[in-house]
Amino acid sequence: MSQTVSSDVVIRVRDVRKSYGDVHAVDGVSFEVARGEVFGLLGPNGAGKTTTVEMLEGLRKPDSGQLEILGIDADSQPDALKQRIGVTLQTAELYPKLTVTEVIDLFRSFYTRSLPTDQLIDFLDLGERRKALTRELSGGQRQRLAVALALVNDPEVVFLDEPTTGLDPAARRSLWDLVERLREQAKTILLTTHYMEEADHLCDRLAIMDHGRILEIGTAAELIDRRFSERAVRFDTLPGVEDAELTALPAVKSVKHDDGRTSLYTGDVPTTIGALLALTEARGLEPGDLGVRKATLEDVFLDLTGRALRD
Ligand SMILES: Nc1ncnc2c1ncn2[C@@H]1O[C@H](COP(=O)(O)OP(=O)(O)OP(=O)(O)O)[C@@H](O)[C@H]1O
Ligand SMILES: [Mg+2]
Repeated sequence: MSQTVSSDVVIRVRDVRKSYGDVHAVDGVSFEVARGEVFGLLGPNGAGKTTTVEMLEGLRKPDSGQLEILGIDADSQPDALKQRIGVTLQTAELYPKLTVTEVIDLFRSFYTRSLPTDQLIDFLDLGERRKALTRELSGGQRQRLAVALALVNDPEVVFLDEPTTGLDPAARRSLWDLVERLREQAKTILLTTHYMEEADHLCDRLAIMDHGRILEIGTAAELIDRRFSERAVRFDTLPGVEDAELTALPAVKSVKHDDGRTSLYTGDVPTTIGALLALTEARGLEPGDLGVRKATLEDVFLDLTGRALRD
């Protein structure tokens, strides 16, 4: 159901391909994004995220396939598109000798319609740095300025290409807050990332990309549940309790031990925990540090590709 979105599709990508020599940078990618959605492309270096996004922005030409934003064809009408979208480039240069205010004013002059500079500076929380040269900004401030520049024309659709790569955790959080505030303004957002926590935290739906292809699309919960229906109930290994007894507990599929911890893989966490507690109480034992572990997007990526997603 969440593979395609029927109501109010803002971004439509159909079987898009782009090669550089022998490299199939984007190799038959299709997805749709609905109005107001935060959609993520999650994948490792070289997956084809930037190539996909820059074709949508009208900055690169596809070899084949359709790219439509707000009903505008990105390939044939890039100029019409520019007034309606906001873009932060992965490799943006920010005019090192201009101040924050000057760069924003410069970008505002590119558009027929733009938001007031002060409003942008306040929204991006750059007030204290308005007179600073852009080269004096911290990584997080520079990234916020890049987003401010993407917002000058008050766009309906915002593209954020790896907005938090290289930022420290505090700056990353502040960027996340910013994306949340854009979501509240009902902007449609397409972001790329190779941080699974970021995709999990921010995206309504996401596509896992690798080697130019989309491997899975859905909400983070759907992607996880599709592959990992079981949860692990974990506790410190109980002395004198046999595996056979644990396997016999209701809903338990399998039992594993590692580093003094026992994991019961179960399709029904409450039932298994209830029975485990009944068993241990009858023995006068207590399962120490009892917890439940759910699979993560990282596990999904590993299962799909056999590789770990980089950091
Ligand atoms: N202009 C280009 N010329 C030649 N090869 C390119 C070009 N742009 C991208 N590629 C190749 O296409 C593939 C996809 O690159 P792309 O930049 O889209 O990946 P990405 O997912 O954005 O990676 P990253 O996470 O590192 O930003 C890579 O193998 C890359 O080397
Ligand atoms: Mg990229």
